[in-house]
Amino acid sequence: MQANILREELLAKTGSTEFLPTFGAILNELLSIVNDSNASVEELLDIVKRDFAITAKIIRVANSAYYSRGSVITDLKRAMMRIGFDGTANIIVCMGFLKEILNQWKLSRLDVEALWVHSLAVGNAVKVLNRGAVVHPGKAFTVSILHDIGKSILYTYGERYRMLIEKARQERADICDLEKESFGIDHQEIGYLLSVNWEMPEEISRVMKSHHTRGEADSPLHFVYVADAFLDDRAVDLGEEGSLLEREKAWIMNETNRMSELIGKA
Ligand SMILES: [Fe+2]
Ligand SMILES: [Fe+2]
Repeated sequence: MQANILREELLAKTGSTEFLPTFGAILNELLSIVNDSNASVEELLDIVKRDFAITAKIIRVANSAYYSRGSVITDLKRAMMRIGFDGTANIIVCMGFLKEILNQWKLSRLDVEALWVHSLAVGNAVKVLNRGAVVHPGKAFTVSILHDIGKSILYTYGERYRMLIEKARQERADICDLEKESFGIDHQEIGYLLSVNWEMPEEISRVMKSHHTRGEADSPLHFVYVADAFLDDRAVDLGEEGSLLEREKAWIMNETNRMSELIGKA
């Protein structure tokens, strides 16, 4: 199919209610809590207890080898206290991403896994870049997890899209150029249109729209740009920040595997 026809098809999909997650509302609520420095675990509890899957996951994580202190916890609030405010907020974002956004689109298990692990790795690389917490850590993690959401619709084209990913990897090229050539649109524009349709906060939309372009220093956009270009091994100069990520690469990968095991498994 020609790129201009695919573009029309993709534009229609971004506006379709078929792709409208119920997660949009939870996410907006979560961000306003995470952005409020006086917010408490109780406020997060209000969100979590409305969703059975997230509740079950948090209790399971609190009892995992990483967090467990020996005693078994069955109460949601105690489980959240054990994981902590930031840890709980991160799990809600990850669960929303996995449960609503990826599973709903019926992607293959391998494609879901590729996107999930990449998003987590960007989240952890951003943690390294943002160690001075110039950007609120919860916000930085959320935009990292969601930055490539536009790719999930492109993954529904299966082999046609996987070939582009492979080509970008081999040539250390920016996948957006290949997407525009083949589909008439890139995952940044798709992600942006989805985020507007889902009424996501402007800060998140901005990252979805432009994370393949260097943003102003110390902004969420800049951190995601550097982390993403580093992890995709794109042929761009990332300066000092690139060297820092190189030194911390083992930590980033270990942390990504740990979280992927802990949160990703049903
Ligand atoms: Fe991207
Ligand atoms: Fe990415």
